[in-house]
Amino acid sequence: MSNNIAEQADEAATRAATQNPDAFAAAAPSSAPAGIGKAPKKMIELIDVDKYFGSLHVLKHVNMTINAGEVVVVIGPSGSGKSTLCRTINRLETIQSGSIVVDDKEIPAEGRALAKFRAEVGMVFQQFNLFANKTVLQNVTLGPVKVRRLKKSEAEKLALQLLDRVGLKDQAHKYPAQLSGGQQQRVAIARALAMKPKALLFDEPTSALDPEMVQEVLDVILALAKEGLTMVIVTHEMAFARDVADRIIFMNDGEILEDAPPEEFFQAPKTERARNFLSMISWHNPSAAA
Ligand SMILES: Nc1ncnc2c1ncn2[C@@H]1O[C@H](COP(=O)(O)OP(=O)(O)OP(=O)(O)O)[C@@H](O)[C@H]1O
Ligand SMILES: [Mg+2]
Repeated sequence: MSNNIAEQADEAATRAATQNPDAFAAAAPSSAPAGIGKAPKKMIELIDVDKYFGSLHVLKHVNMTINAGEVVVVIGPSGSGKSTLCRTINRLETIQSGSIVVDDKEIPAEGRALAKFRAEVGMVFQQFNLFANKTVLQNVTLGPVKVRRLKKSEAEKLALQLLDRVGLKDQAHKYPAQLSGGQQQRVAIARALAMKPKALLFDEPTSALDPEMVQEVLDVILALAKEGLTMVIVTHEMAFARDVADRIIFMNDGEILEDAPPEEFFQAPKTERARNFLSMISWHNPSAAA
């Protein structure tokens, strides 16, 4: 690694730890090991959360609890507040009232405590957000080395394990531009896991992908769900949602209108709004369609 790249890494790590957590999503199954499954412990709790953009009321008295090991899929029409919900959980957006508690700690407003918090809840975005000038391996080791203070050799060992887990061990020395979109998103997931996060948020992780690459990413997320990782997933992939979710949350106009197990929600939505929404979406995931 040249000095130049080392400097960039420092800069990037600082950025990630302070204000750009998308660079290092964080949430590893270490806190919810395989086999523990659906523990009753609360991992994420939103209490009466209100969020405004200017005069626009984007989250309205949102109350939501996600237990450790639970997988919650958030669906709803465009503009209903799904991304904002994820971003407030990770404090990429401030809230005007209410509170957000993660693993029994209220999210700090700013400073070092916030940076530390951001290493504990990871986020995977639609647009991967990998560092273009770093190899896959560097992308995955940067956070653990700079933020978690792992030795480089340990971070590389962990990164290779995680890359293996997402099917990309042999791509470690490539640059993001040399990978397909599906591979890049799997690197982004490995990078998130490398921070050993307590929970992982996905905001439409497959919407930027060509259709033939969607399934490989969904398969990785499904595997993480089976291992007991706490996850919040915003997606339009309804068949996947039905398969992966313990609960479906349906949002409309900043409110949670429904919160139910998938079989209940998809078979018998309680609100007219959800019925309309479901009648308009396509179930185009061929491997999981009913
Ligand atoms: N930075 C911002 N400034 C002002 N308004 C915003 C901002 N971000 C989002 N909004 C508005 O907040 C509302 C909720 O947006 P959000 O992106 O959370 O919706 P969404 O459910 O994720 O939609 P989509 O399915 O299109 O991604 C929308 O009305 C949107 O226009
Ligand atoms: Mg969105």
